[in-house]
Parts: sequence; structure tokens; C-alpha cells
Amino acid sequence: MEKEDIQLVCVSRMSRLCFIAEWLDPMTGVLWRYQLFHHTETNEIEMIDIKNRRTFLKKMKLEDVKAELFYVGSTVTILSRQLKIIEYGDDFTRSRVQDRVERTLAMVKPDAFKHLGKILNAISQSGFRINNLRVCQLRKEEAETFYAVHRGKPFFEKLTTFMSSGRIAAIELVAPGAISKWRELIGPTDSNKARAEAPNSIRAHFGTDGSFNAVHGSDATDTAAEEIRFFFSQPSLGKCDLGRGTTLGVIKPHAVLDGVAGLILDIVNEHFDVTALRMCTLDKTSAAEFFEVYKGVLALGEFTAMSDELTSGPCISFEVADRDGSSEIVEAFRELCGPADPELARVLRPKSIRAQFGLNKIKNAIHCTDLAEDGQLEVEYFFSILP
Ligand code: CDP
Ligand code: MG
Repeated sequence: MEKEDIQLVCVSRMSRLCFIAEWLDPMTGVLWRYQLFHHTETNEIEMIDIKNRRTFLKKMKLEDVKAELFYVGSTVTILSRQLKIIEYGDDFTRSRVQDRVERTLAMVKPDAFKHLGKILNAISQSGFRINNLRVCQLRKEEAETFYAVHRGKPFFEKLTTFMSSGRIAAIELVAPGAISKWRELIGPTDSNKARAEAPNSIRAHFGTDGSFNAVHGSDATDTAAEEIRFFFSQPSLGKCDLGRGTTLGVIKPHAVLDGVAGLILDIVNEHFDVTALRMCTLDKTSAAEFFEVYKGVLALGEFTAMSDELTSGPCISFEVADRDGSSEIVEAFRELCGPADPELARVLRPKSIRAQFGLNKIKNAIHCTDLAEDGQLEVEYFFSILP
């Protein structure tokens, strides 16, 4: 369909936004394109199949679809299809939406990695959306490439040695005015200056001095785009070595969407080391593959509901390692997560993660490996097998 045609169909009333979205049918490999309308006043959705010019979805209200997920670059799950929004369908939508979805790259540096949960929580509390997230350990050359603009400066060697000295987290943030908003939240480059001038800033809290300053933030639109590409278009960049005798945690989509991932990770971090981590959106095929071992154990309805939840949006998976090298890691981490049913967890283990953040048996905040012998396998599924 020509662009003009698309615009004609999209003649907007004030409350109707139009996007172009793609869906790759995992069964047939066919890529479908839709016009996706979002009626903002009523939060109703409507979809037209572009190729056949046919209504695919009549205007209807979908409870689980969140209004703030409608922007280019976002993935929305509608009727179990993960649609990638690739274009604005008209200028009205572009002008309405573009400014509220500025992106920036935030980074938690090695000196503050242990505070990742607290920093993610500050991010969510400040009204940012986490669009992507991964933990890596940069090689020296990778740190030099990232900081190429500082090559030749007296602090370059110290900076790149520091940045390759341990794990870091790269985070793609979305918000209106995200670039300046994030720089304001982190405070001045020098942590001592931050303590004097912006005592509530992240660098004031977690930084040490002018070099070890806890976090990074992009400084302009073009560098933000480049830095986001640097971390999220090169999957092999800074890939963490997986440990031995580790187990898997997955913060479920409902908890990620509710903005409590930081709080959950902070609890994990009080007891364990997080040694690898990524945000990703699973499709049905992957979810079925991952839950394969649970198939015989659960009722079919429960299995389907679990898979629906896991594929309903981005989840955050992470490798958990024991600080004291205990051999009971899978069991120890399960205990921190608590009983699968949050109602039961609130009675039996009120401090557990599921007691605090679980809503029901399906939306129970976190998945953790069940059996001791599966810990390593589940970690490998998320970090070596899933693309
Ligand atoms: O990170 P930011 O954009 O605030 O500062 P920058 O001037 O772009 O410098 C990049 C990083 O280099 C800083 O965040 C510090 O970690 C480090 N740096 C340093 O070690 N010594 C300096 N005199 C200046 C910067
Ligand atoms: Mg800078």
C-alpha cells in the first residue's frame, strides 16, 4: 500500500492514533502488516490487514493493552500476537506521540552494579519506561569504542579500564524529554559536586568521585540513538560468561509493566549475585519450549495461562549465583521467591518475593527454576539458546 493511501485511511479524528505494525507468524513465517488504530479516549483498538485491505479486528476494548505502549519501536501484545510498531500511520499521530517517547541510553557502571535494583526502581518511580535492558561485561576495546569521543583525553585510560573492570547494565529509557530528564536525575559528572548541588541525584547517592560516578547518560538525540544501537544491535557485545551451579529467575511481564522489577532485583541482590540479565519478549513457541518440563505437571488450562502471561510483554530473566558457593542454590533461591500461590505465600512467607509482588497463581511476579538439576539448563535456555 502506498504511503498516500495509508494516510487517506488514517484521516484522524482527534482521539484516533494510527500506527503501522508488523506481526511475524511463527507457524508460517509470513510477515503480516496492519494498520493499528488506537482510540485514546476509549482505549479501543482496531486493526486492518494492509495487504488484503480487510478488517482484521473490529473496534474493541482490550483490558490488558496499555495506552503508553503505543509508539514506534514498541511491541504490543494483542490477542496473543506480538505486534511490532514500525511506523506512524499519519502525521497527526507522529506529532502527538513522538515527543513523549524520546529515548536515551542509561548505564549502571561497575561501581554501582550492586545497586542495580535501587537504580531501576528510581528509574520507574521517575516516570521512565524501560524499553530494553541487558547486563554485560565490556572488553577493554569495547569500552574504548563506546567512549571514543574521549580518546586522547588524560582520563581515557582510567575510564576505559574502569568501564571494563566488571559488570554493567545498559538500559534503554523512554520518556518525554528522556535525555535531559535522565541527566537531571543522575546529577553532575563529579559525584562530590553532585552531593553538594543535587543531593537527591543518583550520582550523589552511589558515586564516589569524578571518575567512579555510578551511572552514564547520553547527551543528545544522535548520541543516544548511537549508544542504544551499540548495546542492543550487537548481541555478542560484552556477553557475560555463564557461571556453574547457578539458577534462573524471570520477572514476569505483569511485574515489569507495573514497574516493580527494580524492587524485586534489589531483594534478590541482598542475598545473591546477579551474574547475567536480559530483558526480552518471548513468543508462544519459545514459551512452550521453556515450559515443556511443566507440561505434564500442570493442568492444561494452567499451562496455557502461564504461557499467555509469559508472552504478554517483556520479561526480565537473570542468572542467580550464590555468594558463598553453596550447592543448594536452586532451593535457596526458590525459598526467597516463596510458594507459587501468592495468597499462600503471604501467610507462610510474608517477606518472599511472591508474597510482596504476586497478584495470583499465574501473575505471581517471578518464575524460578523448580528442580536442582534444571538450574543450569534454564539459564542456558535464556542466555545461550534464545536469540
Ligand atoms: O558521563 P558524563 O557525560 O557526565 O561526563 P563526560 O564528560 O562525558 O565524561 C565521561 C566519563 O569520563 C565520566 O562520566 C567519568 O566517569 C569520566 N571522567 C573522568 O574520569 N575524569 C574526568 N575529568 C572527566 C570524566
Ligand atoms: Mg558524556
